[in-house]
Amino acid sequence: MSFAASVRHLQTLIMSFHPIIVVETVEEPRVQHLINKSTLDLQLPVYEWSIAQGLVRMEGNRYNRWKNEYAPPGASRPAVDENTADPIDALRHIQAIAHRAIYWFKDFSTHFDDPVVTRLFREVAQQFSHNQSTLLISGEQVSLSREIAHEAVYFDMPLPDRDELHKAIVDAVQALRGRIKVKLTPAEMRTLVHTTQGMTLNQTKKVIAYAALEDGHLNADDIGRVLERKMQIIRESGLLDYIPVEKNTAELGGFHGLKQWLAQARTGFSSQAQALNLTPPKGILIVGIQGCGKSLAAKTIAREWQMPLLKLDAGRLYDKYVGGSEKNFRQAVSLAEKMAPAVLWIDEIEKTMGGAQGADTDGGLSRRLFGSFLTWLQEKSQEVFVVATANDISQLPPELLRKGRFDEIFFVDLPDAEERATILSIHLQRHHQAPDQFNLVELVQATEGFSGAEIQQLIVSSLYQSIHQQCALDTALLVQSIKATVPLSVSRREDIQRLRCLATDRFVPVK
Ligand SMILES: Nc1ncnc2c1ncn2[C@@H]1O[C@H](COP(=O)(O)OP(=O)(O)OP(=O)(O)O)[C@@H](O)[C@H]1O
Ligand SMILES: [Mg+2]
Repeated sequence: MSFAASVRHLQTLIMSFHPIIVVETVEEPRVQHLINKSTLDLQLPVYEWSIAQGLVRMEGNRYNRWKNEYAPPGASRPAVDENTADPIDALRHIQAIAHRAIYWFKDFSTHFDDPVVTRLFREVAQQFSHNQSTLLISGEQVSLSREIAHEAVYFDMPLPDRDELHKAIVDAVQALRGRIKVKLTPAEMRTLVHTTQGMTLNQTKKVIAYAALEDGHLNADDIGRVLERKMQIIRESGLLDYIPVEKNTAELGGFHGLKQWLAQARTGFSSQAQALNLTPPKGILIVGIQGCGKSLAAKTIAREWQMPLLKLDAGRLYDKYVGGSEKNFRQAVSLAEKMAPAVLWIDEIEKTMGGAQGADTDGGLSRRLFGSFLTWLQEKSQEVFVVATANDISQLPPELLRKGRFDEIFFVDLPDAEERATILSIHLQRHHQAPDQFNLVELVQATEGFSGAEIQQLIVSSLYQSIHQQCALDTALLVQSIKATVPLSVSRREDIQRLRCLATDRFVPVK
């Protein structure tokens, strides 16, 4: 959502009599900007409250005269309403204000621990339903009790868009004028802006200033530094893991059918497709036998398409507060949308979303999360390609497998002879072994029924052995390790058989 769209959205919420609006963000200057822009045409007075300042009346947003802590130093502060720093006093005070207004309360949710505050707050909300005022609460995390959540609507503060990020970079450079030299072509500047997508304005300013001050220059070399910092920031957000294109070294053997499908699907992102009003592909589900390259396929898609890979760890979405998990989900997907075009990878989707067991044990939370996911998948217009993987399809809700949810559902079986040859070569090369020094025909035969993971493992363990025995790795050593391994196809024969029965004819093989 662009900033202009957010303004419209907030205006609509205010106009449609929502008494409580919650904005979860650390970026208060942006909230201020948003309120300012949104209330400009509505001609409503705006009050602002913080525990430090109490209630402050803004002098008519029409002239943009905010004089709070974000005003430049030296700007005179507006008069504070006396004795309103205490949350209870503030709420009583606004109860007595008869005219319609917008109130912005910062970091208020910590005060809900007090039952008097909670009660008063509810009364204010009820009153606002009549006099059409709106109270907006902001904070990094706003957790509401059920009673209050009932009255409230969450407003998703989108991350800054490209224009805002561009301005943040220019501001950071301006602030360092005289101390740094800037050498960026317009194309490099665009890449830099693109690299900062997914970060807040503050984070962007800091990272740009740091990168520039380190050597006194802001140039193309700093793009890598910014990227490193972004990886860290996204990981710290705790919801997504981020693998930038530059760090993605995945190499997948076989999977020709999938690769062909992807080559075609990729055209869905092209400007030609856009011109014809075609929407980009939504995503795929890969189900199949463990250790056969599902996760690796997700990484490979991002690499082939030169898109960043964002891994959603669905387990980390769970939150003990009402609506917290859904909110985490929204946050994760909005981060992914900000970084679009991107691949959003949901590994082992059956473990967290849906699943008959999940519904019984967590009060239907996983079902609700799954519902949010389906709706988002259906409606998303952003260039976020979803790759979901699953081992156990019996745990998946049937509606996920229905046609049209995903663009396609692929099934991964144990690798055939040709695929095993490729997998052997890939992993031998990865450990600096020339494949032509080995009898691949013999190895391919001997590894019948092995998964890709088992092949990789056997090369690694044989290499350790060769170091231990102080000899070079050769076919005989590998065959010896193969003979000592009980492959999945034997140890999990029944499971694999069951999975094959379920999958054949219903899903498309990746081969
Ligand atoms: N087709 C393949 N090409 C190259 N390497 C492979 C292939 N399949 C598996 N491997 C190797 O096996 C490892 C494990 O594969 P991966 O994690 O992708 O399997 P998975 O299907 O996701 O398994 P799980 O169900 O256990 O999550 C990979 O990191 C890779 O080293
Ligand atoms: Mg996996």
